[in-house]
Amino acid sequence: MSRRPLIAGNWKMNGLKADGLALAKGVAEKLKADKLACEMLVCPPFLLVAAVAEAVAGSGLAVGGQDCHAKVSGAHTGDTSPVMLKDAGASYVILGHSERRTDHGETDAGVKAKAEAALAAGLSAIVCIGETLAQRDAGQTLDVNKSQLRGSWPEGGNAANTVIAYEPVWAIGTGRVATPEQAQEVHAAIRAELAAMIGAEEAAKVRILYGGSMKPDNAAQLLALADVDGGLIGGAALKADDFWAIAKAAG
Ligand code: G3H
Repeated sequence: MSRRPLIAGNWKMNGLKADGLALAKGVAEKLKADKLACEMLVCPPFLLVAAVAEAVAGSGLAVGGQDCHAKVSGAHTGDTSPVMLKDAGASYVILGHSERRTDHGETDAGVKAKAEAALAAGLSAIVCIGETLAQRDAGQTLDVNKSQLRGSWPEGGNAANTVIAYEPVWAIGTGRVATPEQAQEVHAAIRAELAAMIGAEEAAKVRILYGGSMKPDNAAQLLALADVDGGLIGGAALKADDFWAIAKAAG
């Protein structure tokens, strides 16, 4: 089954307007000059989504948000609706990142509702799951990931509109990357669980990204794994050259 890799940069809460635009334009310029087989995506902070989308229009570089509300509009101070993201030029939205689960108490049910709203707005959802170090040490890794997957997967989700990002929490921003064996074991288990949920044929088409200290020097090894279909990259996505090197490793 050939799945087009997705190399997604999650800028998190980093970058002012000038930095963000320079970074996005730097990636877009490379992409215009050297078309890659993989798909590339940047997810800036909300305030930069529209400007970045305008700056990279026509380059092939996709733009996404880092979260959205489950409602289209209404009295939700400080929130951003998926329709607003779409209107600003986004085509993807990251949902249920472990930092949001920790910082904002997001639950699987809440992530599922947001993902369903995102799909209804015409966005593709990148649903994040992953175990903590304590859960891994307790031998709960596969159970935790399967449970988060089942709880967060949107009704109506399929390979065309939903991507899974497996991010072991202990590997995020720590420089401690999952070994190829650890990553492949979890990715394969996620795909097997998806097969039970949506059928083997559809599950075989769903892209499952790895996230957690993916860098230019370890990307090729991870991206070569049978069930790893790209990366959700944090720190290394803040430098155009590093982000590009990871994308090149994906092909
Ligand atoms: O969303 C991205 C991930 O949390 C990975 O972040 O590459 O800085 O470890 P990192």
